[in-house]
Amino acid sequence: MATDVHGEVTAGRAAVEITGLTRPFDGRAVIDGLDLTVRPGEFVALLGRSGCGKSTLLRILAGLDRDIDGAVLVPRRRAVAFQAPRLMPWKRVWRNVVLGLPGRPTRETAVRALAEVGLEHRADAWPRTLSGGEAQRASLARALVREPDLLLLDEPFGALDALTRIRAQQQVAEVWQRRGCAVLLVTHDVEEALLLADRVLVMQDGVIAHEQQVGLPRPRDVGAPEFTLLRAGLLTELGVVASQARP
Ligand SMILES: Nc1ncnc2c1ncn2[C@@H]1O[C@H](COP(=O)(O)OP(=O)(O)OP(=O)(O)O)[C@@H](O)[C@H]1O
Ligand SMILES: [Mg+2]
Repeated sequence: MATDVHGEVTAGRAAVEITGLTRPFDGRAVIDGLDLTVRPGEFVALLGRSGCGKSTLLRILAGLDRDIDGAVLVPRRRAVAFQAPRLMPWKRVWRNVVLGLPGRPTRETAVRALAEVGLEHRADAWPRTLSGGEAQRASLARALVREPDLLLLDEPFGALDALTRIRAQQQVAEVWQRRGCAVLLVTHDVEEALLLADRVLVMQDGVIAHEQQVGLPRPRDVGAPEFTLLRAGLLTELGVVASQARP
């Protein structure tokens, strides 16, 4: 089942189906006739220059921005981890994680999700006492606990140090494989996109300007020649010269 962002329910064979999506801001169409289909269970990464509209697209898919033209079909069960963690400062971390879940979610449920991102030891902390990376992981746990059919991630690893980042990437990959949800991951990191995704999209001028299937077996080897080739191709699409990006 999929639901459009206006709440109508339709049967869907895709996890995401976007047709002719347009979102103007002050007369400028940041998203301009965008089409995109994501298969159920598919892991898609979205690249694009700063300001090209990636977060805008995610907000629309999350149902937080309805000021649009075009058709957007998404699963009813979806969750989003925003670019900046949005934790309620007056609620302890574990309560933030289960905030808005139906029923009476327990601390145990929250701790399980926090454990998935290596943060169970901070379950009783106040959000203001978390580091930037910890807050980002709490926000990720908050998305994972919803057991979504569509997981929307907006640069969820941006504030993490290199080692924590690798661990968090592996955790997202594990959760994705275990739950079989579709993922749309916004990232600035071409390598991260190629490590995780089935397909990498490049957004430009308000549309998906380029897409690259990643047919490499997992876990992927960043040193493999096929990987290097895909990375160079994507960097070129992004207007970056590969030799500049990797000294
Ligand atoms: N509420 C808003 N009102 C006016 N303009 C907006 C609004 N939200 C976004 N924009 C504009 O839309 C464009 C796309 O913004 P968006 O946040 O989607 O970019 P992005 O691709 O996520 O960039 P980044 O990689 O820096 O996060 C920007 O030029 C931004 O200024
Ligand atoms: Mg953004």
